Amino acid sequence: MSVEIYPSTSSPCGKPLLDVLRGHTTKRRPIWMMRQAGRYLPEYRKVRADAGSFLDLCASPGLASDVTLQPISRFELDAAIIFADILLLPKALGQRLEFQEGEGPVLEPITGLDGVNRLSDQHVLSDLSPVFEALGLVSGKLPDDVTLIGFCGAPWTVATYMVAGRGTPDQRPAREAAYKAEPWFTAMIDLLVRTSIDYLCAQVRAGAEVLQIFDTWAGVLSDEQYGRWSVAPVAEIVRGVKDKHPEVPIIGFPRGSGQRYARYVAETGVDAIGIDWSVPLDWAREQLQSRVTVQGNLDPVLLATGGDALDLGVQHILDGLDRRGHIFNLGHGILPDTPIAHVERLISKVRAWDDEHDAVSKSD
Ligand code: CP3
Repeated sequence: MSVEIYPSTSSPCGKPLLDVLRGHTTKRRPIWMMRQAGRYLPEYRKVRADAGSFLDLCASPGLASDVTLQPISRFELDAAIIFADILLLPKALGQRLEFQEGEGPVLEPITGLDGVNRLSDQHVLSDLSPVFEALGLVSGKLPDDVTLIGFCGAPWTVATYMVAGRGTPDQRPAREAAYKAEPWFTAMIDLLVRTSIDYLCAQVRAGAEVLQIFDTWAGVLSDEQYGRWSVAPVAEIVRGVKDKHPEVPIIGFPRGSGQRYARYVAETGVDAIGIDWSVPLDWAREQLQSRVTVQGNLDPVLLATGGDALDLGVQHILDGLDRRGHIFNLGHGILPDTPIAHVERLISKVRAWDDEHDAVSKSD
């Protein structure tokens, strides 16, 4: 029997992650990790080297689906996230994109109306077809209890890279454009909203069961800018996707939002909120978990550090958040130098907590 905390309109399907997102209590607390397919895995490094480049890997549905499944074969995880990148959308819109070794993404910066006018949504979905094909392949191969997650970047976060042309420590170029509310910047955000809705809906048709919107750079916005550039575009995407696929849960991840996570939940309509490790758990429990599922929030540096500190940190989260309505995850992506043994330890800790607490409730 399932106990419900949020009104649930469906019966449990047996996939812990999907069930928790739909308001059911499951026997085990679901766990997955952002960037769970990546360089910390030797099998990833091999496929990546064979593929030639990161973008070649993303463009090859067979390899992208293999890499998506690697962490599922190795660990007992509850979700697979499709192997792709948030910057494939600007690429599909016509912005030149490269990934340089040791540098990260490099795009041709857009700093005015000319640049935005050169973008086109004509071929977006056909350009992104390898992502949909990879989703189809993964969907056919996943174990029955594992949920498939699709994703996109939030318009603000994607725009920060489109404007600067690369990662920057503080996203100053996009923040300046946002403060000035440059018409070209507004047009860029509008274009990203529209095409992200189409992109996410196409991912659902291809097999994605849950969607996550990565707003990695939400935290750099000043409070009065946050509503306009982070919350409003995501709210529009959530509305647009729910219009067509009301049954698909959406997880928002506006990293670094502090107490604004509560506002984000209230105003965007997301079904779950990914939080970073700076958020106090008692606050998250009261202000967030009472309304939606919470995902997070182990510091990836702590996972890489390991030892007793990791055990304590994991325990703190397991005890600090209500197990109903919690998806265990990191507060940001796994770091490339994370030892695999630490990941195994984390997962076994989470599973052991479930077993202990199940035993307690049986003996009650
Ligand atoms: O989580 C997963 O396992 C799914 C795949 C995934 C990738 N990127 C693969 C990737 C996801 C969900 C992303 C999201 C993404 N991409 C974000 C938002 C989340 C976050 O981490 O902040 C951002 C900002 C990007 C843009 C991006 N892609 C950057 C800045 C970089 C360079 C930094 C880095 O980690 O190398 C990438 C490259 C990237 N995306 C890699 C992977 C596995 C590494 C590429 C390689 O193999 O060399």
